[in-house]
Amino acid sequence: MLTVTDLTASYGPVTALDGVSFEAPRGEITAVLGANGAGKTTLLRTISGLVRPTRGTAALAGRDLTRVPTEQMARIGLAHVPEGRGVITQLTVEENLRLGGLGRGSRVKIDDLARAYSLFPILAERRRQSAHVLSGGERQMLVIARALMARPTVLLLDEPSLGLAPRIVVQIFDLLQTLVAADGLTVLLVEQNARSALSIADRGVVLNLGRLVVQDKASALAEDVQLRHAYLGF
Ligand SMILES: Nc1ncnc2c1ncn2[C@@H]1O[C@H](COP(=O)(O)OP(=O)(O)OP(=O)(O)O)[C@@H](O)[C@H]1O
Ligand SMILES: [Mg+2]
Repeated sequence: MLTVTDLTASYGPVTALDGVSFEAPRGEITAVLGANGAGKTTLLRTISGLVRPTRGTAALAGRDLTRVPTEQMARIGLAHVPEGRGVITQLTVEENLRLGGLGRGSRVKIDDLARAYSLFPILAERRRQSAHVLSGGERQMLVIARALMARPTVLLLDEPSLGLAPRIVVQIFDLLQTLVAADGLTVLLVEQNARSALSIADRGVVLNLGRLVVQDKASALAEDVQLRHAYLGF
């Protein structure tokens, strides 16, 4: 369980996150929704220590993640896949995957590579190719697979569906559900596409201007017509 309490962060005079509190249970996908500028990316960046909170905590097993140095994140079980693709195009697919396993401190295990390839068969086919040749969807699969190489317990995903064809989004979302069920991962899924995110999420939190508007079961949020019109765009 990831417990976020009173989390507050600013960029100079702009308060991007304002007293946000919620819980993301283990083995569940929690969708983080809200319009452009609502503070979704800032929430993930603050949880993973990239932005320093002015107040509040994000605790995993009693440990405040916001104070953990970034280089120790992987070791304590947190993986953050930021907006944008972030693959290293000068390296091959397999080299990118191996990089993901390094932060854990031990050598990259063959098992972890095998698991990545069984989850994403297209990456196995392309393992020796430069990441430069991958499509947008394949790059998104590679960054998720790379994050999983560190065997995280918490996975933060910022807009994984951005710019991808609906068919690919469905494929990636299905896979996320499989992973969560199999590994008991805790996932925070930031999405613009609230409808698809709520279709696979267990819970959802809605942000507006840095504040938490509501948190509830995904099904309850999806059925709330007023909330959908006001904040979710569907
Ligand atoms: N590096 C920054 N410096 C100054 N202000 C920032 C910075 N990053 C974000 N902001 C501001 O903080 C607020 C929240 O931004 P954030 O990127 O967290 O929103 P978001 O919900 O992820 O939006 P989007 O859906 O467009 O990705 C916005 O008002 C934004 O302009
Ligand atoms: Mg964002």
